[in-house]
Amino acid sequence: MSEKNTTFVQILFEHVMNILIINGPNLNLLGQREPEIYGNTGFESYLNELQNRFSKHRLEYFQSNHEGAIIDKLHEAGFTADGIVLNAGAYTHSSVAIADAIKSITAPVIEVHISNVFAREAFRHHSFLSPVCKGVICGFGLDSYRLAIEALTK
Ligand code: DQA
Repeated sequence: MSEKNTTFVQILFEHVMNILIINGPNLNLLGQREPEIYGNTGFESYLNELQNRFSKHRLEYFQSNHEGAIIDKLHEAGFTADGIVLNAGAYTHSSVAIADAIKSITAPVIEVHISNVFAREAFRHHSFLSPVCKGVICGFGLDSYRLAIEALTK
């Protein structure tokens, strides 16, 4: 097959996915916040890396420190996005409302954490979100987000 035809066939069959990354409270301070746990890289520059790596897909990013705003975003994108990568921060361990929002939408949601929450305080071992998510990735630093997108796009 000629190179031109290969490209045409790729365009026909490669499904461009719309993936939303949601970061919850205090994750706007990545790079500054507890760097010994969360590292020195701000999320915006890491997002650039992700966008280059997954350039054939569309990655949207949303961050909020407010539970209701995260729920509104899940409702807004949850019936059209092909997948959602969610780091709900501390709301992971407290929010029945975010768990209900995930249950209400059709897009698969992957729960991610930068740190290994199971190696930390006991209150971080419980997640209200894990039972309603497609899967959970934690403990790989910012690479947790890449692994989640790999899982959604493969
Ligand atoms: C976190 C872990 C949570 O326990 C914590 O409250 C966060 C970040 C993580 O990415 O490791 O804010 O979700």
